[in-house]
Amino acid sequence: MRKAIYPGSFDPITFGHQDIIARSSSIFDELIVGVLNNSAKNSLFSVDERVSMLRELTKDIPNVTVDSFDGLLVDYMKESGATIIVRGLRAVTDFEYELQIAQTNHVENPAVETVFLTTNLKYSYLSSSVVREFAAYGGDISKFVPAPFVDRIYQKYNINR
Ligand code: PNS
Repeated sequence: MRKAIYPGSFDPITFGHQDIIARSSSIFDELIVGVLNNSAKNSLFSVDERVSMLRELTKDIPNVTVDSFDGLLVDYMKESGATIIVRGLRAVTDFEYELQIAQTNHVENPAVETVFLTTNLKYSYLSSSVVREFAAYGGDISKFVPAPFVDRIYQKYNINR
C-alpha cells in the first residue's frame, strides 16, 4: 500500500495543483492532500476554507483525502501513515528549495521519500502568488484556477467582475 502526501499552502488552489493531484492519485494507492496550517503566514483563505475547496475539487477521486497539518511534515506523515511526499517542479528555480526540503525530510526520517512530478507545460508559469496578484488588481484569473473558485477569490479582494 503506497500512501503519499501532496503537501502545500494551496492559497489558492490552481490548475497546476489540480493537475499534480490528478496525476499523483493515479500513481499511488492513497493520496492525502495536506494543507499546511501556518499561523505565521498571512493567508488569503483560512485553512478550513482551503480544505473545503480542495475537498470539493477532489470529491470524485476515491483515493484522495484532504486534511490539514501543523508543525513538521515528517511528524504528520508518521501520524497519517504516509511515506511518500509528492511535489511539483515547475522550473529549475524550484529545484534548489525543493532539493533542500526533500533531503532534510529524508535525514529526519529515512523512510520518507520525495517524488517530483514535472508540472504540465501548460501550467509551468503558474503559482498561487501570481493568482493572488492578478486577482487583487481585477485581472482575469479564469485561466489559472478551477471555475468554482474564481469568484470566491475575487470576493476576498472585494472585486466584482
Ligand atoms: O505550497 P508551499 O508553500 O510551497 O508548500 C511548502 C510546504 C508546506 C511543503 C513546506 O513548507 C512544509 O512541508 N512545511 C511544513 C513544515 C516542515 O516540515 N518544514 C521542514 C522543511 S525543511
